[in-house]
Amino acid sequence: MSQVHVIDHPMIQHKLTIMRRKETGSKDFRQLLKEISLLMGYEVTRDIVLEDIEIETPICKTMAKKVSGRKLAIVPILRAGIGMVDGLLDLVPVAKVGHIGLYRNEQTHNPVVYFCKLPEDIQERMVIVTDPMLATGGSACDALSMLKERGCNNIRLMCLVGVPEGIARVQKEHPDVDIYVAAIDEKLNENAYIVPGLGDAGDRIFGTK
Ligand code: PRP
Ligand code: URA
Repeated sequence: MSQVHVIDHPMIQHKLTIMRRKETGSKDFRQLLKEISLLMGYEVTRDIVLEDIEIETPICKTMAKKVSGRKLAIVPILRAGIGMVDGLLDLVPVAKVGHIGLYRNEQTHNPVVYFCKLPEDIQERMVIVTDPMLATGGSACDALSMLKERGCNNIRLMCLVGVPEGIARVQKEHPDVDIYVAAIDEKLNENAYIVPGLGDAGDRIFGTK
């Protein structure tokens, strides 16, 4: 069974509270999402593999650590997952970025795939899938399946807010994928929106409503 990591550092909780407020505009919403993503990135990458290399400081030669081999791929689920990419890239500037385009059908709430472009060597990388909202879990599960079909076997899912039912679905369908969230909210409403949540993350990031 995969692990669920709730990264509820006080600074993350504070920033998330501002994001939740309905009067927070797109500019601040985007900035806060970027800042939280960088902070969450510390934990999501905690077990990244290091190797020893010899370097020379101004004083002497010494052994030091560096991230080994092929590193990271960040894969946002479009659109809202894009809002978490820049924070992670600030942390790991050499990461490659793939994109999976999914939207929820408004009647059925089932995800529909419309785009997939991934780094050629994705299967050799640790993959961080990003999406601020883990609601029914349908979008995340489909994205994870698409990555596994392409050979990925080291994947983690990074979301801002989840609900128990979405988390349970990902754990059931993808027991090998650890889930990282900043908060676990109470439930879904009749439109499968997270309660209390923060509304439609994509619309709030891009100002489309
Ligand atoms: C939102 C969100 C997730 C999905 C979560 O995207 O960003 O991708 O819904 O819901 P689920 O867990 O029930 O699948 P949306 O479909 O609204 O698309 P958008 O990001 O383009 O706005
Ligand atoms: N997608 C969102 O953007 N927000 C929710 O609360 C649920 C799905």
